[in-house]
Amino acid sequence: MGYAEEFKRSLNDPEGFWSEQASLIPWIEPPKRILEQDDNGAWRWFGGGKLNSCFIALDQHVEAGRGDQTALIYDSPATGQVTKFSYSELTDWTARVAGGLRKLGVEKGDRVVIYMPMIPETAVAMLACARIGAVHSVVFGGFAAPELATRIDDAEPRVILSASCGIEFDRVIPYKPLLDDAIEIATHKPAHTVIVQRPQAEAELIADRDFEWEAWLDGAEPTDCVPVDAHDPLYILYTSGTTGKPKGVVRDNGGHAVALTYSMQAIYGVDAGDVYWAASDVGWVVGHSYIVYGPLFKGCTSILYEGKPVRTPDAGAFWRVIAEHRVKSFFVAPTAFRAVKKEDPDCELRKGYDISCLKYQFVAGERLDPPTYHWLKDNLPGVPVIDHWWQTETGWSICANMAGVELLETRAGSPTLPVPGYDLRILDEDGHELGPNQEGAIVVKEPMPPSCFPTVWGDHDRFVESYFSQYPGFYLTGDGGYRDEDGYVYVMGRTDDVINVAGHRLSTGQIEEVVAEHPAVAECAVIGIHDADKGQVPMGLMLLKDGANMDAGDLQAELVQMVRSSVGAIANFKRAVVVQRLPKTRSGKILRQVLRKMVDGESYVVPSTIDDPAIIDEIDATLRAEGVIQ
Ligand code: COA
Ligand code: AMP
Repeated sequence: MGYAEEFKRSLNDPEGFWSEQASLIPWIEPPKRILEQDDNGAWRWFGGGKLNSCFIALDQHVEAGRGDQTALIYDSPATGQVTKFSYSELTDWTARVAGGLRKLGVEKGDRVVIYMPMIPETAVAMLACARIGAVHSVVFGGFAAPELATRIDDAEPRVILSASCGIEFDRVIPYKPLLDDAIEIATHKPAHTVIVQRPQAEAELIADRDFEWEAWLDGAEPTDCVPVDAHDPLYILYTSGTTGKPKGVVRDNGGHAVALTYSMQAIYGVDAGDVYWAASDVGWVVGHSYIVYGPLFKGCTSILYEGKPVRTPDAGAFWRVIAEHRVKSFFVAPTAFRAVKKEDPDCELRKGYDISCLKYQFVAGERLDPPTYHWLKDNLPGVPVIDHWWQTETGWSICANMAGVELLETRAGSPTLPVPGYDLRILDEDGHELGPNQEGAIVVKEPMPPSCFPTVWGDHDRFVESYFSQYPGFYLTGDGGYRDEDGYVYVMGRTDDVINVAGHRLSTGQIEEVVAEHPAVAECAVIGIHDADKGQVPMGLMLLKDGANMDAGDLQAELVQMVRSSVGAIANFKRAVVVQRLPKTRSGKILRQVLRKMVDGESYVVPSTIDDPAIIDEIDATLRAEGVIQ
């Protein structure tokens, strides 16, 4: 069946299409209902079905006789290690970690926060939670203590699993002081923490609260998979919204297992036994779906890479891993390739490696800018370069070139066509559908396919308000874009206050809250401006309080430090400019989109609702004087 037929069937007969996919995964009890609305009105898949996501990822392959196949390769240029774990080894280890969690009183439905670097224990911790029906919430290691504290307070974990440190290039980042601070700041206090002690920086443990990972595992009873309901949550993953408070995206067990299993062959063109590599971080949705769950559901060999695209040890790092482990399908953020391109513009370092195993190059996390697309195409002859677009909220692609169904022509700047199950539309402000090449809000008509989130943890009203209130019956993606005459989708960027910095999703509101805390700042706006390497970086525009008499350089340095300590270095907040006034509508809303377009040199329309049009020229002059606009 070709793409067009598969896509059409998924929309005309969603229940038939997805029940067929559901029949391909091992259920403990098959679903009684395929699609329904729950008491909140949210669409749910596979009601009444019982399964276990850890069983699907691990035990099923051992039972099927694939126990000796490598499940996970831990490749760590950061520590100089390459370690391989077979499906049998990973299953046994996970069963013991699950037993360790049980010893600490963790039961089905309890939350476990995982604040860990890219080490195999992290994947095992996630799978161990799934094994006993506990709900994991992984927090990206680059977040500072207050961000971790916010997530602890929202998820209210019984236990936190962490490690003594992470490694960034050659820098050791101690995690334990951040964890201790976060627990100090948080109102909710977890009963225990378990810490993987890494030799690069040993952590000090607090007696009776903190356990050392190996000692904790000593004598832990291997624990079997417990049946969970298809609708039971597998994990919560916090993501940035328009306000400072992150949203806890909930992923259920059933829809996730079915959609991700389908995606491995249909999108990524891989099967059991193939080597698949997503060079992301387990702290992001890409890491959840395509370092841990997806490839293991399918019986692939997955790579967990603790390194960078460059300087670990050089810009040939990706080619080395592909060649050494015979990667068939590789997935990474465009920003990582921009880093490679900067250091090795002619891709000389690729020549030393046999990467003939590479069949597909996937990218996502931000728009694949046409120059990077062309650079990749030129340097990977014969390998399709596939941009695909997705979000934490969906857990898998909304648009892709379905390599395993029918590989279509790729077009620069486009993630190709909607994936089966996604009824995508482009709407204007009034909800009217737009025609070819007309830019508007990208939305998806309900019901969304399996794996898409059914709620925001502990705040269903926010789910409805943020995603379904602007266009009732349609999921608001928050991205704007258009389709060409052939239906190819072009995702041009967020229409809200979310920004994408080096593949990391952040909220300008989150950074604004920190900047506004400075005693000299009366008001501020943070906008995401174009950056050649990182895609976007945040920049602050501040109004000072009357009488505040600070040197602009000192103020900027203090704000940069505040954002690093409160949000994290990943925010890449480095520029803050003092202005006399901020452009606002008469109702007081700051015109951030106008400011962003002004700085990025794009054309913009000043809305008629602006409070005082003269301010536009005033701001333009200030930003030119500061060298922000050239
Ligand atoms: N833990 C602690 N600190 C971290 C971190 C982590 N996990 N990740 C990043 N940081 C720190 C960095 O060390 C850096 O600190 P510094 O300002 O003191 O130097 C800062 O955050 C900014 O990091 P980043 O923007 O990532 O820049 P970089 O130069 O360190 O790395 C890339 C550049 C391209 C290698 C990196 O951004 C990257 O790999 N991005 C891809 C992200 C991704 O995979 N996203 C998922 C979507 S598919
Ligand atoms: P996250 O939830 O962290 O995966 O970030 C999702 C956001 O990243 C999307 O809403 C987009 O703004 C952006 N994004 C991800 N993939 C792409 C892509 N292929 N093209 C354009 N934008 C993308």
